[in-house]
Formats: sequence, C-alpha cells, structure tokens
Amino acid sequence: MRKKITLITGASGEIGDALIRQLLKDGKTDLVSLDIRPLAPEITSRITHIQGDICDRSLLARIISEYEIDTIYHLAALLSTRAEFTPEAAHQVNVEGTFGLLQIASEQSEWRGKPVMFIFPSSIAIYGIPDLVTKAKFPHIREWEWNYPRTMYGSNKLYCEMLGIYYSEYFRQLASDRPVMLDFRAVRFPGLISAFTVPSGGTSDYGPEMLHAAAKGEPYACFVREDSRIPFMAMPDALKALTCLAAAPREALTRRVYNVTSFSLSAGEFREWVLKFFPQANITFAPDKKRNDIVDSWPADLNDHDARRDWGWSPDYDVNRSFDEYLVPNIKMRYQVKS
Ligand code: SER
Repeated sequence: MRKKITLITGASGEIGDALIRQLLKDGKTDLVSLDIRPLAPEITSRITHIQGDICDRSLLARIISEYEIDTIYHLAALLSTRAEFTPEAAHQVNVEGTFGLLQIASEQSEWRGKPVMFIFPSSIAIYGIPDLVTKAKFPHIREWEWNYPRTMYGSNKLYCEMLGIYYSEYFRQLASDRPVMLDFRAVRFPGLISAFTVPSGGTSDYGPEMLHAAAKGEPYACFVREDSRIPFMAMPDALKALTCLAAAPREALTRRVYNVTSFSLSAGEFREWVLKFFPQANITFAPDKKRNDIVDSWPADLNDHDARRDWGWSPDYDVNRSFDEYLVPNIKMRYQVKS
C-alpha cells in the first residue's frame, strides 16, 4: 500500500521552511518535501526530502508511484521582481510546474476516489490598478476587482488560480463519467514578513529588508516612495491562513480563491514602526521607478470579508503585535541585538 502523505513544494523557501516547522510542531509526521535546494539542516532528519525540479515530470511520476498524496501545499514559485528578469524561467516554474502538479493531483484524486486537497498561495500581484488616483478610490479590493496583473508573476498566479478551479470543477465536463476531482483552495497573500528569513526576488521585499537591516545595524535605502502603500502580514498568520483554509469543511466555502490580509502600511509608516524599535536605524528612500510602478499597481489593502465569513479567518497579529511580539523579539535574538 502507498503511504499517505502531505507534499510540500518550495520547501526551502520562506513559506515552505516556516510551514514545515509548524506542521512538525503540530505533530505531523507524514510530510514529504520537494525543492531544488536542500532543506535547512535542523529539519532535514525529520522529514523525507526530495531534492529536484518541480518541472521534472518523471520525478513527479515517481512520487505518485510511491505515495498516496492526500494534501499538497504547492509553494514553489519565482517571485515578482526575479520573474521580470527571467520571464521564461518564471513561466516554466510558476505555470508549467503548477500545471504538472495539478495533473498528478487530478490523477490521484481519481485513482483513490477522494479529492486531493491542493493548497495554493496566490498574491496581491494578481491585481493591477492603472494609476494612483484609482488606487485611492478602491482602498479595499474584493477578489473579483482589478484582476489585471502587470507582472509575469501576477499573471502566472492568476492563471494558475483559474487552472486550479478548472481541475476542481470542470475537468472532463463533456465526458459522461465525471471523475472525482481535486479540491483546489487558494489564498491571495499580501506582502509577507518573517522574523527568521529575508525574502528574495519579491517586490514587497522593502518591508522585511528595512527591518532586518535595522536589526543588523546596516543602513537601508528603500526602493519605493514613502507614500507607496500595500498590505502586509506576519508569517505566523500566513501559516494560519494556509492551514485553516485546508481544514475548512468544503460545504462552508463559497469560493476557491480568498483574499486574506492583516495590516496596510505606507513605506513611510513602515519606517516609523521600525524606528520605534530601532531608533538608531538609518533608513532613507531611493525609489526605483520601475519597481515602484509595480507596487503602485498593487492594492493599498484587501477586503477579506469572504474568508472571515466562510472559514472564520482573522489574523492573530495586527501591526502592533506583529512588531512587538513576533518580529522584533525574534529578529533581535537572531542578530543578537542587545535590548
Ligand atoms: N511578495 C510577493 C512579491 O513581492 C508578492 O506576492 O513578489
């Protein structure tokens, strides 16, 4: 009999690393991870890790011949700034990688007669607002508004949301014998901030970069204007969103893709929060017009009403708790800053 497992792709990335630690802490033992990179040494011995490429179809075939996949957290992706420099590679990983995984999840759902749960982190990058006047007019964006991404990454995420819905609802819609289909669920995240890792290749990275630089006593020149505003979330809430959505009963869900958010800050306000805890921080603004244009096209905030109503979503960390209880103490410990 094949062993029933939860598969985590992008396992060495920011969300993957944090999610694995959380699931291990919760006593989950059936985890298999996949990433092109090795896992962090402290967790390697506690989980079966497959080092390989998400786009390698023969590797995916080997995984399903060996395991019964019950749940997939598909976190592997190239983020928005990096994707602009290597759009073909981004399409390959973000779209082809997801497509291959949806196909095997689909096969597995049919084979075992029970939907495979497919959890997918999407992003504020799927939104594209034309200008700052419009951005100010629509401060809390709903899921169906402004789905006009301007980046390769945002386009990839939006398309993959649609593929996920297709494989969950309409796959083989013209056949007489409809198979058991997978159960795709996605959250659209704001910019995420972790105390333990610094993101790489994203466009919301100025927030976490500012904070980590301050803790290290390094100067930081922020690449967007002070008034640039997007929503953010602390990593523990991102994990909460993924695991709560996975645990929600199917009947409670009225959509497959949900906004989730915590707090909205301008880059200037972000700097103020950092200065509150690191008064010596040297943070200046040196906007990069092209990256700023991307941030300007993202919403100032998200409306996550549907997630709250359907599966009881609410963040544990508002801006104050995020800085005061999660980010600052852990970052100080990490860089051994004396309080
Ligand atoms: N944090 C991501 C990025 O900046 C957006 O989801 O690309």
